[in-house]
Amino acid sequence: MQDNKYKQHTVKLQIIKFLSDGEFHSGEDLGESLGISRAAISKHVKGIQEWGIDIARVQGKGYQLARPMDLLDQKVIQASATVPVELIPVIDSTNQYLLETFHQRESGCVCIAEYQSQGRGRRGRKWQSPYGSNLYFSMYWKLEAGVAAAMGLSLAIGVAIVDALESLGARDLKLKWPNDLYYQDKKLAGILVEMSGQTGGEAHLVIGMGLNIDMRVGDNSIDQPWANLSQVFDAEMPTRNQIVIALIQAWKQVLDQYEEQGMASFVERWNALDNFKDKPIKLLMGNKEIYGIGKGINAQGGILLQTDQGIETYVGGEISLRKA
Ligand code: ATP
Ligand code: BTN
Repeated sequence: MQDNKYKQHTVKLQIIKFLSDGEFHSGEDLGESLGISRAAISKHVKGIQEWGIDIARVQGKGYQLARPMDLLDQKVIQASATVPVELIPVIDSTNQYLLETFHQRESGCVCIAEYQSQGRGRRGRKWQSPYGSNLYFSMYWKLEAGVAAAMGLSLAIGVAIVDALESLGARDLKLKWPNDLYYQDKKLAGILVEMSGQTGGEAHLVIGMGLNIDMRVGDNSIDQPWANLSQVFDAEMPTRNQIVIALIQAWKQVLDQYEEQGMASFVERWNALDNFKDKPIKLLMGNKEIYGIGKGINAQGGILLQTDQGIETYVGGEISLRKA
């Protein structure tokens, strides 16, 4: 059940559903179908535009989306998922939602959204989350081994995302330490692992992923090169529902393996996917910059850097890796 903080936005969601076919819909027809005035429709459309949806209004024809929209369908996803899946189309942050409500949930449950008003990345950075064009996906996971075992989790989940997308036909996906999916040297997805607390020896974790699918945003709104999954697939693009189903399956599989065998069992696969293997990189730690050649990760998930002093290992969430 959704509490008051998570408004249902019923009328706006119905308007989006009508418009998702990419055809024109007049204000009059929409108003009639939904039992409200044309003026009310116009007001709702303005609100919808604030969620990052591109809607045009043409005199005499009505409203039309810039392109058809492939909407998420909870029932379709749930029918193929072995864990509970909650779709909250409009939310502040799927990670935040599970952090606040995990007490009532089982480990492995998933929350997805069409739009996040406060999507976040690491260290409070903003994650651009326009409606309907990406995936905002979070899973609650109770890690029996406790927080000390969580260090490599974002690396293992990176492997799970590649597994899921490759099972749908994607190729040439790469990983960047510690939490990004890359395509052609651009950021395609980001992973954010957050901890809500510990009970006994168990850590309550929320693992979130933002995956760009077909996002159009102004050039300046993201301050680094980024990519869309539509570029990876060209023509044969799977639906967003199919992508979610594949992700749930792969994440569950990888997390079970992570619990049983630990980070070491992912090292070889991760290193084969490393975008910066044998390339000049720098590690940023506060004001400090360390230059070297990327040498992949070790069994604990630390990044290996070849420097004049030999191979050095770095661990910790405060480090950012950049091309040198
Ligand atoms: P780090 O290497 O420390 O992880 P990062 O720049 O990737 O560095 P993150 O906190 O992981 O930082 O991700 C947030 C950053 O991602 C934002 O500052 C912005 O540059 C970028 N970003 C925000 N939204 C998106 C998006 N939808 N797709 C791709 N990149 C995005
Ligand atoms: C990063 O690259 O820093 C990680 C970005 C993680 C974004 C996802 S979108 C779903 C989940 N909810 C959030 O607020 N953040 C994560």
